[in-house]
Amino acid sequence: MEKMLAGSGYSDKAIRYFIEKPYIGEIPDADQVSEMTGTCGDTMRISLKVAEGVILDARYQVLGCPGAIASAMAVVDLIKGKKIADARALNDGDVFRLLENLPDQKNHCIELAVKTFHKALDEYTRQSKR
Ligand code: FES
Repeated sequence: MEKMLAGSGYSDKAIRYFIEKPYIGEIPDADQVSEMTGTCGDTMRISLKVAEGVILDARYQVLGCPGAIASAMAVVDLIKGKKIADARALNDGDVFRLLENLPDQKNHCIELAVKTFHKALDEYTRQSKR
């Protein structure tokens, strides 16, 4: 499996994220849960734990490809412990840099992971203003 992934353009770092899946799952008492389906048909659901404007933790459930899983795991490493205002600036390039490489046709997997996170932030902000 690792060889297949490496042969198709996944970096070692992306392969590790995919195999180890450090942030797959749900946060039982999450402050926000949001879901998004990409144009490829894959779906991600993110749960966030937030306190005093800081993202304490995040988990993803992913119905999708290795690129989707690796991207979601990288997003969590980039947002954990950050203030919402700073985490909002996360973009696809940040995730790509952390992953080091993904096959070209997998860039939309990064996009889906980032968009799912941004959707959760928007919904969380809206709900906490109520
Ligand atoms: Fe759909 Fe990767 S192919 S997220």
